[in-house]
Parts: sequence; structure tokens; C-alpha cells
Amino acid sequence: MINDFIYDIPVRVYFGRDQLKHLGSELRKYGTRVLMTYGGGSIKRMGLYDRVVEAIKEAGLELFELSGIEPNPRIDSVRRGAQLCKDHQIDVLLAVGGGSTIDATKFMAAGACVDHDPWDFLDLKKWAPIERALPIVSILTLAATGSEMDCAAVISNPETQDKIGRLAPALLPKASFLDPTNTFTVSAYQTACGAADMMSHIIEVYFNMNEDLYMLDCFMEGLMKTIIRFAPIAMREPDNYEARANLMWASSWAINGFVNGGRQKAWSCHPMEHELSAIYDITHGLGLAILTPRWMDYCLDETTVSKYVQMGTNVFSIDPTLAPMDIAHEAIGRLSDFFFNTLQLKRTFPEVGIDETHFALMARKAVGGGTLPGFKPLQQQDVEQIFKMCME
Ligand code: NZQ
Ligand code: ZN
Repeated sequence: MINDFIYDIPVRVYFGRDQLKHLGSELRKYGTRVLMTYGGGSIKRMGLYDRVVEAIKEAGLELFELSGIEPNPRIDSVRRGAQLCKDHQIDVLLAVGGGSTIDATKFMAAGACVDHDPWDFLDLKKWAPIERALPIVSILTLAATGSEMDCAAVISNPETQDKIGRLAPALLPKASFLDPTNTFTVSAYQTACGAADMMSHIIEVYFNMNEDLYMLDCFMEGLMKTIIRFAPIAMREPDNYEARANLMWASSWAINGFVNGGRQKAWSCHPMEHELSAIYDITHGLGLAILTPRWMDYCLDETTVSKYVQMGTNVFSIDPTLAPMDIAHEAIGRLSDFFFNTLQLKRTFPEVGIDETHFALMARKAVGGGTLPGFKPLQQQDVEQIFKMCME
């Protein structure tokens, strides 16, 4: 059945090498007092910081700064940013970085509009409404999360060992600058993790037994093939523009809502991965790479095999005359090969310092204390089993 859906992605995208000339006029639409946010300093090392500051000064805007946003951004950074916005009557926030910087900035922008602690937006017991946020503009420096073109953000709270994501239309950036050359300095490891994250965003939607829009399945298969083709090139040749451009635009389209159509199933690997990051602070894409093939294996049976066959034949060009179960296993094998050999990501939990200590707790939190209604409904014991499969 093809469900009804609303398609609405009002993010203006400036794509390409020479778009920063539009930054001043874009920011000026929202006011004159700009808070620029960034992470641990990669934007300074690559020279982007200087170019952005120059563009802001040339446009006659007043610049404020907040740096030090962590990978797996923490609520304390969000609190600092929200307070800065209030103290300096900020008009618009400019996030310059990867998903962590953009995500934290989204909640700073929302936190600036309320009197309560920004964690109240993410505390599952409070779930304070997100009705407004200051305008957000982003300059993306890492192709991965799609935060530049979606209304989601994920924040960690080390005190409670929570990592929680939330979607709200108010968090959508007004505009995003996507210059592939800004990703030339991304390490091979972060490029690989970004590719795994994008693959997961697609797989979370693609693995769905509803009969719905064929064109969206084809689109997702095209995105997966794009990532499989260009991620290894970008790792080998970091300044290959074509590879970086393809990955960058794929990252946005993997999660900007378009591929969903009317599909309503919850995601599976992301809730599991967020629990890993919450406790072990591992890189998001790495956790997804380890989990995804095991989850696929766990969900494979006679009722789901056709989806694996579709992926196997259309994405990995596996011989369609083979038995469906053989194609399915081969598809999982090819995906594993991509993650662990081509992208050179670690294959098991022990290799990234995860043992069984917190399996029960993480599994319970991943399913929200009930059932995760994804591709295949998962309960706590199912998730624990998938975690166990990641041990070897
Ligand atoms: O902090 P800096 O110095 O900038 O360094 C970063 C960081 O160490 C570095 N980096 C970024 N751009 C670079 C660069 N290094 C050299 N050159 C560049 N051009 O890369 C490291 C990782 O950056 P980070 O922003 O953490 O990576 P990513 O973009 O993968 O973001 C991950 C976060 O996004 C969340 C994840 O859970 C995680 O917290 N997600 C957000 C989503 C969303 N908003 O929709 C969805 C995703 O599924 C995901 O959950
Ligand atoms: Zn992700």
C-alpha cells in the first residue's frame, strides 16, 4: 500500500566551490548578530574559519563565537550556546562543521527561545515542546549525518549516560552551504564512518516489507551504489572533487525525508547504536557498521528474504538465478565486505572496547522498555542477541 505523505524540505542549498559569496546575504536575512559555532579546530586548520570570518565581516555583521563542540555533542555545549544567544541577543546561528556541530547548534537555537534547561527537550520524562528556534544556517564539513538538510539532532548527556535524538520542524536549517572541497581534509577513518552512516540511513528505510513506491527503492539503490563507488575513492584520494561531491549530496538525500515517502516503520540500528555511543562514546558510523550486518542476519527469514534479494541483485549485482536465501546471505556478506574490508572499519565490539557488561541496559533503553517497531519488531532480548552477534 502506498501511504499518503507530505513532502516539504525548505532548506536552501548552496552547493559547490564558490558559494561562500552568498553567505553574507543569506545571514543578513535573519538579522545582524551571528553566533558561529564549531568543533575542535579542524575548520581553523583547513582555512575555512578565516574565510567565513571574512565573509561575515564584509557583510557588516557582528560575529560571536562558540567553539569546542564535541563529537557526540554534549548537553553542556548546548547549554553554553543557548545562554550565549540569550546574553547577546543573537539573531542567527551559523554552524560550521560536521553533524555534531550542526546538531548541537540546533538545540542551542531552540534553547535560546525558552526559559527551561535545554535537556528538557530530550529528557524522555519531560519532552518539552519545540515550538520555536532561532534561524540556523550550516556550512557542512563532513558528509555523513545529513543534519544539514534534516530536522533531527542527537545530543548526549554523560551524567545520565543518555544519547537522545529528536525531530522537530523548527530545527531545520534555513540554508546549508555544501562545498565538497571543505571535506578534502576529512580523514580516511571519518570518511569511512560517514559512508557507513549514510548507508545505514538508507537501509533503515529500504528494509521495509510494505509495497510502496518503487521509484523510491530505485532512488535508494542508486544512493547506495553511489556511496559504495565513491567512498573508497575519497579515502584513497582525499581531494577528489567528484568523489567528495557525490558523497556530500548523497549524505543530504539519504535522510532529508524524500526517501521515506509514506513509510512509517521505526528505525532499528540507530536506536541500538545511540546506546553504544552513550556509554562508550564511539563514532556513530563505526557502531552502525558493526551492527547493521548482524541486524540484517537476525531479521532474515522466509517472510523477509525478498528484500535482501532485491538489495543483493540491484545493489551488489548478485546472480538473480541463485536461491533467494543464498542471495540474501551473499548480500549481507557483500555489505560486510564493504564495511570491514573496503572501508577498513573494525568488525567486532571487542575491537572497539565494548564488552557484555551493559548489554541488558543498552538493549532495554534501545527498545524504550517495550518493542522497537522496525523492519522486524525487536524486544529487549532480540537486541541483546544482536549485540552478542557483534562479539565475534
Ligand atoms: O571537531 P572538529 O575539529 O571539527 O573535528 C571533527 C570531529 O573530530 C572532524 N571533522 C569534521 N569535519 C572535518 C573534520 N576533520 C577534518 N576535516 C574536516 N573537514 O570529524 C570528527 C567527527 O565530526 P562529527 O561532527 O562528530 O561527525 P559526524 O558528522 O559524523 O556527526 C556525528 C553526530 O551526528 C549524529 C551522531 O549520532 C553523532 O552524534 N547524528 C545526527 C543525525 C541527524 N542530525 O540527523 C543523524 C545521524 O544518524 C546521527 O545520529
Ligand atoms: Zn546515522
